[in-house]
Amino acid sequence: MDNGVEILILSLLFLSLPTFSHGWGVDGHLITCQIAQNRLSESAADAVKELLPAYADNNLSSLCSWADKVKFRYHWSSPLHYIDTPDHLCNYNYDRDCKDENGDKGMCVSGAINNYTNQLLAYGKALLFLSHFMGDIHQPLHVGFTSDKGGNTIDVHWYTRKEVLHHVWDNEIIETAEERFYDSDVELLVDGIRRNISGDWSDQAAKWENCSDNKTACPDVYASESITAACQWAYRNATEGSVLEDDYFLSRLPVVNLRLAQGGVRLAATLNRIFG
Ligand SMILES: *[C@@H]1O[C@H](CO)[C@@H](O)[C@H](O)[C@H]1NC(C)=O
Ligand SMILES: *[C@@H]1O[C@H](CO)[C@@H](O)[C@H](O)[C@H]1NC(C)=O
Ligand SMILES: *[C@@H]1O[C@H](CO)[C@@H](O)[C@H](O)[C@H]1NC(C)=O
Ligand SMILES: *[C@@H]1O[C@H](CO)[C@@H](O)[C@H](O)[C@H]1NC(C)=O
Ligand SMILES: *[C@@H]1O[C@H](CO)[C@@H](O)[C@H](O)[C@H]1NC(C)=O
Ligand SMILES: *[C@@H]1O[C@H](CO)[C@@H](O)[C@H](O)[C@H]1NC(C)=O
Ligand SMILES: [Zn+2]
Repeated sequence: MDNGVEILILSLLFLSLPTFSHGWGVDGHLITCQIAQNRLSESAADAVKELLPAYADNNLSSLCSWADKVKFRYHWSSPLHYIDTPDHLCNYNYDRDCKDENGDKGMCVSGAINNYTNQLLAYGKALLFLSHFMGDIHQPLHVGFTSDKGGNTIDVHWYTRKEVLHHVWDNEIIETAEERFYDSDVELLVDGIRRNISGDWSDQAAKWENCSDNKTACPDVYASESITAACQWAYRNATEGSVLEDDYFLSRLPVVNLRLAQGGVRLAATLNRIFG
């Protein structure tokens, strides 16, 4: 498949570039997509199999970070990973906030999710973008304040290491949890999230899947949840120079687990609706 070859080459080319990241890191995207993959209906799984390049092994998870790797090559796509909202308002409004720096409407992660759900069959890369952006929109700081670029300009210490706050939410909370509670095995974390989706969260999970008026996805709802969580958990007690340790880590980890779960459940529900 031509697409597959191009994607492979692009992935190799851009694997080594430094990333100024917006959205979950590699493990966050992997977790979201692994949760989604297991919840696909038979017809959605078949459609995904057709759309993925052969080397992806019929499995969404291997390609869910692709969109981050091509941000520099496809420069137009870089505003599609996030939303900047007005500082300290703690809410999100599509008409007000979903635009890029030039003011172009729809150029944000919510617009991109609508865009790519509408062209899954017409555009070969749409599935890869959609699977990635459905993860990104659930990362709370990915719908953050404008002046600090979603926490990218806030320097903190993660235990003893210097980090920016955004990166703490992309990577550090997840990786610290893996090391401390899951034997450094991301699969065990995925299992834990899956168990909670079918256990403690099962009533809620039915609601996460729901989308009013039977739309295929409700990205504005997901974005509103993210900025609410950003204000309540991510920005709270994390200002320039803060030292973030167990208090912060242990109280925020459940929020991260929940957002990963919601991203996976909603990605699957969206694909199941489209390919149902
Ligand atoms: C998909 O890939 C992931 C990681 O690459 C793997 O852990 C998982 O078992 C695979 N799932 C299926 C259904 O093949
Ligand atoms: C929608 O997808 C097309 C590629 O098919 C891209 O050129 C455009 O920038 C995308 N717009 C948004 C808002 O995602
Ligand atoms: C699953 O739920 C239990 C009980 O609420 C909680 O202790 C645990 O941390 C959760 N695990 C994940 C991965 O969400
Ligand atoms: C889904 O959303 C619709 C409209 O918002 C609502 O009427 C319905 O009760 C919801 N269903 C579930 C299972 O939450
Ligand atoms: C949404 O879909 C469900 C099941 O397919 C149907 O029963 C319901 O009437 C639909 N609701 C709307 C608002 O279209
Ligand atoms: C913020 O820090 C204060 C003082 O240590 C503490 O009482 C409060 O619970 C913390 N809030 C959050 C959301 O972490
Ligand atoms: Zn991203």
